[in-house]
Amino acid sequence: MSVDPLIFPDSDALARAAAVQLMELSAAAIAERGVFTLALSGGSTPKKLYTLLAHDPAFATFQWAKTQLFFGDERHVPPDHAESNYRMTKETLLSTGLVPDASVHRVFAELGDAAQAAAEYEAEIRRHFVGDARLDGVPRFDAILLGMGPDGHTASLFPGSAALQEETKWVVSNWVEKFKTDRITFTFPLLNAARTVLLLIAGADKAPMLKQVLGDTRGTYPVERVQPRDGVAVWMLDQAAAAELPSASA
Ligand code: 6PG
Repeated sequence: MSVDPLIFPDSDALARAAAVQLMELSAAAIAERGVFTLALSGGSTPKKLYTLLAHDPAFATFQWAKTQLFFGDERHVPPDHAESNYRMTKETLLSTGLVPDASVHRVFAELGDAAQAAAEYEAEIRRHFVGDARLDGVPRFDAILLGMGPDGHTASLFPGSAALQEETKWVVSNWVEKFKTDRITFTFPLLNAARTVLLLIAGADKAPMLKQVLGDTRGTYPVERVQPRDGVAVWMLDQAAAAELPSASA
């Protein structure tokens, strides 16, 4: 996969660089269209980014009042559950009150039926992305944050899972065998309609997979299928995650 990743000394530098990217992307989107639509990623890597955006004076001018926040995936748990991506985002960013409640579109993952939660979330996205906010009819996020697991998954698109084959729906429930649970996730059609996808990948445990995905072997891992049709994917790595790449230097 021919990608020229941005490599940073450590996860703090990676988080700060991602925050700068989001500042620039949001300013441009708001200047052009009056709104910045952003889908957040879950897990642990983005915690430092969300904390910076919430508390660092360098990002105090972030235009949250003109930003609409969505979630690229969610675990099938209530919003106060330890595994909830919404809870993580609330603890790091939303609890500051910087983002108007009406601008936060969470997945109703407390619903017993994950497929219903996914369908309702897709309907919420459909309601919000109207007119020219679409690419060939697919909602076009200004920015989508993604991470990558050591197994090459992204969002909740895991190797061997059914959602990898989804070509029309934008949000689906996806059974994840390794965790014996459903997840709710954006699909590739939705991810690849975005203007910009920022892939934030940190930690030595990601190095072997990055060597495969970005190195000289062509795997068939889900994260390789993040290829915006009319947009850009920016791979942002820390040194530890990039350690097995040919040119691991920033
Ligand atoms: C999730 C994320 C998931 C995450 C990767 C990396 O819900 O967990 O969306 O795709 O980005 O698993 O997770 P870490 O950042 O914790 O390594």
